[in-house]
Amino acid sequence: MRTRKDRIQKDLEAINAFNASPGKGVTRYTFSREYQGALTYVVEELRRIGVNCSFVLGGNLLGRLAGSESSGPSVMMGSHLDTVAQGGRFDGSAGVVAALEAARAVREEDLPHRLPIDLVVFAEEEGGRFGWGLLGSSTWSGRITPGQLAQIKDREGVSYLEAMEGAGIKVRDSSILSPSSLKAMLELHIEQGSILETRNSRIGVVEAIVGIKQMIVTIEGSASHAGTTPMDLRRDAMQGAARIIAAVETVARQEGEGGVATVGQVFCEPGQANVIPGLVRFSVDVRHSDESRLKAMAAGVAYMAENVSKSRDLRCRIEVKAEAEPVKMSPEICDLIEKVAREQGIEPVRMTSGAGHDTGIIAKISNAGMIFVPSQGGRSHCAEEFTKAEDIALGAEILLEAVLALAR
Ligand code: GLV
Ligand code: MN
Ligand code: MN
Repeated sequence: MRTRKDRIQKDLEAINAFNASPGKGVTRYTFSREYQGALTYVVEELRRIGVNCSFVLGGNLLGRLAGSESSGPSVMMGSHLDTVAQGGRFDGSAGVVAALEAARAVREEDLPHRLPIDLVVFAEEEGGRFGWGLLGSSTWSGRITPGQLAQIKDREGVSYLEAMEGAGIKVRDSSILSPSSLKAMLELHIEQGSILETRNSRIGVVEAIVGIKQMIVTIEGSASHAGTTPMDLRRDAMQGAARIIAAVETVARQEGEGGVATVGQVFCEPGQANVIPGLVRFSVDVRHSDESRLKAMAAGVAYMAENVSKSRDLRCRIEVKAEAEPVKMSPEICDLIEKVAREQGIEPVRMTSGAGHDTGIIAKISNAGMIFVPSQGGRSHCAEEFTKAEDIALGAEILLEAVLALAR
C-alpha cells in the first residue's frame, strides 16, 4: 500500500482538535474559527508537498497537482470539513484526509499522471451553520448564485458571504465550474449506515445517492393563558404540530423500504410552560432514491399538515428549504472502483447512499463516483461515529488508484 494509516490517523487527530464542542462530539461550522483551523492544517500539509491552494466560487478550497500535460480537464477528489452540531470525527474529514494522503503518495512516489489532479474541500456540506446543505458545491456548479448566498443567513443573521469574508476567504476564481474542465469527481466517505458491516465488507461502491427534500412547516394558532383557557377554546399550535409530526413517521413507514422522513428541529413560541403555544415551526427531511416516490412522500406530509391544521383552526405554511434530486453515479467509475478494490483483494458491495453528498451535485455536470468505508454500528452524525484508520487507508489506496487511472 502506498497510503499510510499512521499519517491518516495523525491528520484526523489534528483536524478534530478544531472542535467547538469538546467532550460532546465535534462541532465545526463552516467559516468558524474551528473550521478555518482545520482548513489551514490541510492547506499547510498540501504546501509541504508543493501544492498551493486557493479558493473558488462558494468558498471551496482547491489545490492542484499539475499533470504532465499543461492543459486538459482535471480529476478531482475530496470531501468536506464542516460538521453537524455535536457530530462525528469522520463524516467529511475521512474523505479529506484520504485525498490528502493520496496526494502525498502521488508526490512522494512521483506517480505519473497526464491530467491535473485536484483536491477539493467543499464548504457547508452539512447545512449546520446556514440551515441548508451542499451550498459550496451547489454554488460552484451554478445551481445557486452568489446573490442567493448573500441572502442565506445563519442564526445570528450573518450571511454566507459575510461569514466567508469574515473568515478571510478571498475567492480567486469566481467562475462557475465548467463541465469541460472536469473529467471526474471521486469522493471517499464513511458509509454512515451498517450495510458494509452486515455484509462483512470493507469497501462500498455507491451507485446512487438519494433525493432529499427539506421543508419548514409553520403552524400558527393563538397564544393564550394555559390556566384560564378551556380546552375547547384553544388554538394550540403545538397540539396540531404534534399530530403532523406523528404523521410524518406514518408517511415514511407506509412507503416501506427506501423512504425515510425525519423531524429534527422544533421551535415553539413563546416557549413558556404556562402559555399555550401560538406558533410552532419544525423541519421535515424526506428522502427516497426514486424521484416520484420522493415527491409523493413530500405531498403526503403536506396533505396531513393541511388537514390537521384545518380541523383545528390553525394556519399552516410549508416552505421547501432545500432540494436535491436522486442522482446516479457514473457506471464506468463504479466499475473502475470495483476493479481497483478487487485488485486489493476486496469484494466491494454496491449500494445507494442515504446521505447527501457534494459529489451528487457535481454528478449533475460530470462523471462521478464514491467509495464508502465502514461505519462502526452504522452510527453517524453523533459522537459515537467511528471508522478504523486501516479502512480509511484502504479506501484511500483505492481512491488513489482510481484517480490515477482516470488521470492517466
Ligand atoms: C448530510 O450528511 C445529509 O445527508 O444530510
Ligand atoms: Mn458528509
Ligand atoms: Mn453528514
